[in-house]
Amino acid sequence: MGDPWQECMDHCVEVTKKAGEMIREALQKDIAVMQKSSPVDLVTVTDQKVEQLIISSIKEKFPDHSFIGEESVAAGAPSILTDNPTWIIDPIDGTTNFVHRFPFVSVSIGFTVKKEIEFGIVYSCIEDKMYTARKGKGAFCNGVPIKVSGQEEISQSMVLTEMGFKKDPEIFKTMMANLKTILTIPVHGIRSPGSAAINMCLVACGSADAYYHMGIHCWDMAGGAAVVTEAGGVIMDISGGPFDLMSRRLIVASSRAIAERIAKEITVFPVGRDDKEGE
Ligand code: IPD
Ligand code: CA
Repeated sequence: MGDPWQECMDHCVEVTKKAGEMIREALQKDIAVMQKSSPVDLVTVTDQKVEQLIISSIKEKFPDHSFIGEESVAAGAPSILTDNPTWIIDPIDGTTNFVHRFPFVSVSIGFTVKKEIEFGIVYSCIEDKMYTARKGKGAFCNGVPIKVSGQEEISQSMVLTEMGFKKDPEIFKTMMANLKTILTIPVHGIRSPGSAAINMCLVACGSADAYYHMGIHCWDMAGGAAVVTEAGGVIMDISGGPFDLMSRRLIVASSRAIAERIAKEITVFPVGRDDKEGE
């Protein structure tokens, strides 16, 4: 039997390319910035237009499928993962980068069936790198197979994380303390490229050895989770348990040893869930 989801994946690559073109064109013009939940949670008309382009194109071909899209959720759509084939879409992952023309901006799409990720696409559209991964079939960048570094020693590793403004001073303190803990292991370095999906792809292709984050969303994680897993990486919850797409937190790494060490060192703070209202 052929692959039942291949047609979806092929369509996903095509629509993601179009989305990337739209983003590159928008970078040539003035960018009007709007705020969402806080002064550092930004959105632009391009985020909204790109999401509309992606969803309308997929709906036309696959009318029975479900969607969780960042901007649709911001506009009030539910963010509940069901067993139905579901497209989890971040039209621009790295909106702050986009606004500042900092060149790590991606379109990220993960596709789930029965809550399992079947494939993921991350298009780093300024670099023109198309990362693709189909469950059980490996991960690729522009068609070339990629794999994680395989690094086992955290002291030899490059670690990625993102630091955002946190309203709660205690949470802010914990986030900064976590940074200090990881830096003083010591590791070779910590970087924050600014797009969760690209961070996962950087681990997937061996340019970084780990990435941890608390407070992101399923649309930031779904595409990259497929890429890093298929590249031979390890993905787990920040506590060291199994990865949960709706949990808003993760560790990915080149090896189980590094992922488990980060889980051991990190102090967890509450971030809510994507599938619980108001969190
Ligand atoms: C954000 C980026 C960023 C991360 C934030 C995300 P967005 O996604 O992935 O790296 O630090 O937590 O919300 O808003 O640009 O799609
Ligand atoms: Ca986004």
